[in-house]
Amino acid sequence: MVPAPGVSAVDGVEHLVRSHPAVWLRDTCPCERCRDPRSGQKLTSVLDLPVDLSVETVEESEGLVTVRFAPDGHVAAFPVTWLLEQLGRPDGDGRSEADKRRWTAGALAGCMPVADWDGYRREATVRRRVLEDVLHLGVAILRRTPTTERTVLDIARTFGYVRETNYGQLFDVRAEVEANNLACTGLAIAPHTDNPYRDPVPTLQLLHCLSNAIDGGESGLVDGFEAAALLRAEDPSSFQLLAETPVLFAWSDARAALRAERPIIGLDPLGRIREVRLNHRSMQPGSLPAGVVAEFYAAYRKFTRIISRPELQVTFRLEPGDCLILDNVRVLHSRTAFSDSATGRRHLQGCYVDMDGLLSTLAILCRST
Ligand code: FE2
Repeated sequence: MVPAPGVSAVDGVEHLVRSHPAVWLRDTCPCERCRDPRSGQKLTSVLDLPVDLSVETVEESEGLVTVRFAPDGHVAAFPVTWLLEQLGRPDGDGRSEADKRRWTAGALAGCMPVADWDGYRREATVRRRVLEDVLHLGVAILRRTPTTERTVLDIARTFGYVRETNYGQLFDVRAEVEANNLACTGLAIAPHTDNPYRDPVPTLQLLHCLSNAIDGGESGLVDGFEAAALLRAEDPSSFQLLAETPVLFAWSDARAALRAERPIIGLDPLGRIREVRLNHRSMQPGSLPAGVVAEFYAAYRKFTRIISRPELQVTFRLEPGDCLILDNVRVLHSRTAFSDSATGRRHLQGCYVDMDGLLSTLAILCRST
């Protein structure tokens, strides 16, 4: 066990306990009066905690530290290892920029996170690495998956729960005669995140390549957190404007009408980048307050120009059997124009999954690998 930062072996367990607010320790008490022994869920309310709590006595024996609280005399016993773990745990849920490895095209080019489907299925360590790459880099590619339709759902279910939407469990990305979405044409598509018109937005997207025997149709990726961090460094007021201005995104067809109002750059309560939503196709500028329109568009242009910088954009070609897994509130994806030919078509199938399912699968894998 590695002591938490700021806690050395000579500090002693009593110092460790007393360095924590009594209310925090009491609220984590694992006794059967405070927590359900089976689920670990709390049986108490914050109103059950005395407002003038303090630590009265601390005793350590055989790996357990026993704390007696004043004024009510409640006794809590904590495993010492558990206490140290709590102190060493990074803040938050791993979703903000604080826990990400940001990248540029050059940084990612030499270490594209790729794994073979067979190895992924057989080895827990490979699965763990792939899911960690999605969490920390926002992207991973599985290669040599079966090129049969609906395989994308099988891949998604290895780590999460498929989010069914008005598009169904999965969606096809291919040129269609009467497309209800520009993704289903041969037009170039600029870097974007998917479905910003939903709340909650799907936090992960899978794109599985079934065929790609055509010219064009190259895929591009940009780390939206890196682009947002560059905007913050180069033009803090534009960054702040994009983080504070609600933008309406909408999409509709004959059977669905979807709307969500969120900023382009989402921050967590500590001001750290947590989400990027950018999709010019579905942005509805009419919702912007009149007084900020000009400033907003200047900031939006700056951000889009940063995203367009070649040094930020990784370009590659998806081959049949490749499955791209993307953090859809961080990594923007794009494609170049293409046209199907007599000899081949470009056909991808995609689906949406949520990051919480991936995080749960990863946490369970970490217990055994
Ligand atoms: Fe897309």
